[in-house]
Amino acid sequence: MASLSGRRIVLGVTGSIAAYKSAFVVRELVKAGAQVRVVMTPGAKEFIAPLTLGTLSGHAVHSELTDDRNAGTWTDHVELGLWGDVVLVAPATAHTISGMVEGRGDSLLLTVLLSAKCPVVIAPAMDRDMFTHPATTENLDTLTQRGVHIIEPGTGELASGLTGKGRMAEPERIRQELSAWFKKQAPLLGFRALITSGPTREPIDAVRFIGNRSSGRQGAAIALELARRGMMVDFISGPSHIPTDHPGIQRVDVETALEMKAAAEAALNNAMPDVIIGAAAVADVRPASPITGKVSKEDLPEAISMVPNPDILAGINALASSACFKVGFALAHGNGHDAALRKLKSKNCDMIVLNSITDKGAGFEHTTNRVDFVHGPDRIDSFELKTKEAVASDLVNEVQNQLLQRTAPSEQSGR
Ligand SMILES: Cc1cc2nc3c(=O)[nH]c(=O)nc-3n(C[C@H](O)[C@H](O)[C@H](O)COP(=O)(O)O)c2cc1C
Repeated sequence: MASLSGRRIVLGVTGSIAAYKSAFVVRELVKAGAQVRVVMTPGAKEFIAPLTLGTLSGHAVHSELTDDRNAGTWTDHVELGLWGDVVLVAPATAHTISGMVEGRGDSLLLTVLLSAKCPVVIAPAMDRDMFTHPATTENLDTLTQRGVHIIEPGTGELASGLTGKGRMAEPERIRQELSAWFKKQAPLLGFRALITSGPTREPIDAVRFIGNRSSGRQGAAIALELARRGMMVDFISGPSHIPTDHPGIQRVDVETALEMKAAAEAALNNAMPDVIIGAAAVADVRPASPITGKVSKEDLPEAISMVPNPDILAGINALASSACFKVGFALAHGNGHDAALRKLKSKNCDMIVLNSITDKGAGFEHTTNRVDFVHGPDRIDSFELKTKEAVASDLVNEVQNQLLQRTAPSEQSGR
């Protein structure tokens, strides 16, 4: 059930005798916490009244391309297609299925399906001989190849009096299969991550700063991979131009280590994470007394006194729950296993991702990375040189294994 909660579902209803069951489909989805918007084909209105589906979904039902011919208004099929996390067509007639294959746009539903950026799931419903006709079989094969998920019809007595395969799956099974499908798409749904990423800049004066060469590319790749698998991500980034556009990522941009610390603590206090990943390259020290305004070249001091920055990761790890999986990053010069093992303890981490600047193509300013996952003296997993996206995928696989072995997300996060 949890995987449907809050999901936005565009439900397409077509002109099958099974359309009466779409009322129960709406009820099942709404009961599971989903938001449902119904789009009917004109044919579907012969079988069930829009008023029924509008009342059960709590929203106006759309079925025509134009809203009000006299006023010249139209239904925004593009907006509907973009709104959904999924378009579910239940029941799906042979006619609408063939329209999907051909890319036709002669009903509002078909135009929504052409505009949709989200995945599509269909529950075919038709007479036995229509279902087994080569045209239907080939059309369903084509849609499967395009990534459409098909909820198989059941076998039994059909409206025509024939017995065989073609009955639309029962509404409860549609809800269960959709829920399982969402879970497969997003195995980490309901979990929350806190990531720090990128460099920090420690001001000397208004224009000069002490910084480092971190691009933020690795942290961004991790955030995107976590969000793709369904997680909500609080992403605290030092100055970096690498985009992290995803509805699951809440990004806070900061400059200095002190700002990063404050933003990370605020995120943690707002919602307890299930995983913390400290991927930021935080400056170890900062100028003790940054100068206001721009100092002229002649007036620059000969020496700048420094003070240590706080250990951000150790600080937020100490505030996190004991069930939270805590990951730190370490950049070594040469083999850094000893240093990584020390960091594991001093920062109270469960795992250190170790990369070395002496490995060709690894670390800052590269699109690739070579890492070891250091869990302890008895478990160090070494990986080949890969793109930072592939490293992110390895790391998220590990996070996923860890989280799914631990408590359920709601229990950990107190939500
Ligand atoms: C009583 C009746 C029941 C029908 N049931 C189905 C059905 O279960 N599946 C199907 O593919 N077509 C069925 N049809 C045919 C469709 O209504 C017809 O092909 C229509 O053009 C579908 O348009 P649509 O896909 O735009 O809704 C039925 C027609 C009638 C008159």
